Amino acid sequence: MKILILGAGGREHTFAYKLAQSPNCSQLFVAPGNAGTAEIAKNIDLKVTDFEAIKDFVLQEKIEMLVVGPEDPLVAGITDFFAEDSALKQVKVIGPSKRGALLEGSKERAKEFMAMHKIPTASYESFTKESLEAGKKFLETLKPPYVLKADGLAGGKGVLILNELEEAKQELQNMLADNKFGAASEKVVIEEFLDGIELSVFVLTDGKNYKIMPTAKDYKRIGEGDTGLNTGGMGAISPVPFVDDDLMQKIEERIVKPTVNGLQEENIDYKGFIFIGLIKVNNEPYVIEYNVRMGDPETEVVLPRIKSDLVEIFEKLSEGKLNEASLEVDERAATTVMLVSGGYPEAYEKSKEITGFDNVEGSIVFHAGTKNESGKVVTSGGRVIAVTSFGKDYKEALKKSYQNAAKLHFDKMYYRKDLGFDLS
Ligand code: AMP
Ligand code: GLY
Repeated sequence: MKILILGAGGREHTFAYKLAQSPNCSQLFVAPGNAGTAEIAKNIDLKVTDFEAIKDFVLQEKIEMLVVGPEDPLVAGITDFFAEDSALKQVKVIGPSKRGALLEGSKERAKEFMAMHKIPTASYESFTKESLEAGKKFLETLKPPYVLKADGLAGGKGVLILNELEEAKQELQNMLADNKFGAASEKVVIEEFLDGIELSVFVLTDGKNYKIMPTAKDYKRIGEGDTGLNTGGMGAISPVPFVDDDLMQKIEERIVKPTVNGLQEENIDYKGFIFIGLIKVNNEPYVIEYNVRMGDPETEVVLPRIKSDLVEIFEKLSEGKLNEASLEVDERAATTVMLVSGGYPEAYEKSKEITGFDNVEGSIVFHAGTKNESGKVVTSGGRVIAVTSFGKDYKEALKKSYQNAAKLHFDKMYYRKDLGFDLS
């Protein structure tokens, strides 16, 4: 099977690492990829949203499976583009249709879906520029902190949590009337604040059958003790140690099953991942958000724990026979520590040489923002390298990730040294 992965981050390097292990993978391409994917696959310089260019490449190379890493091409309808094209419709696309991807592409749609299918989530109302005053009045009826969410995709920056009523009203105005997040904030969801601990559950579904993948927890803030600005994710741990059978059963019965049944009832073509962001409040799970792809850096701890052949799982998925696939999971814990460029998530410098790869022992180094430049591996993004390790528990795994992180180097390299601080 000839496979093309779309994307350029640590998530895509991990997909490449896992798919390349399969005897069913004859040739692997990543577009655009990074210096890590270049070691195990062929990088192709394509934009993930340039469907015509992707089509030309897929036909030229006779690609049989397309694995879509990030959300943008899914929300823009790449799966429908393939399904509706007579030359492309044989290609097995791993990723939902545009209607499915709206669960991530529109916060309002996600909330409506949850309400319709009785899936526990924070109560909410949504507002537009025309109903700005009503939105301010609604804020007055809530208790702080106030949660404001831009409806559309805003690169992970569209959620504001504010302690002061006046500030919340001002931000609502900035979003609705002054285009704070452009078109993404033409509509804003205001929702009840939920106080608890977060975790993520990853579900693979063909639209009727589903498999629950290992749970994971990521660390989103740049600073230790979960302080400072939000990032794409500074590290992750799998499994989540506080998820016991009782909580997992609640998640499956109240959230996973109604979500998959909801897709089926609404006739939504969905063959891909659902990443369910959850918050546990008094041992009860609530959905914070749906993503229609795998998480990054969660992928770097979830996929290495899958022992089964991922190509086989994806083939069953695309045939609508996911129930026939086996999903064997490594019992050990996995952790990943993200090494980032100094200054990230704000301005940072690029093209810094990365050294020390040969000194790493007993961890897997996934590249996130790297490229090859004059024979060297250099930084090309904010999140640069994810160091993944296994251990009998997350503490042992983390120790190994940290030992190896310290062996890697680039100018102004930074990483959080307190992952797992909230778990013991
Ligand atoms: P989202 O982009 O929807 O994942 O939101 C980003 C972050 O905001 C989440 O990871 C949570 O930490 C926080 N968040 C979102 N919604 C709520 C809520 N209703 N209550 C508390 N925290 C929330
Ligand atoms: N780590 C969070 C995400 O991928 O959205």
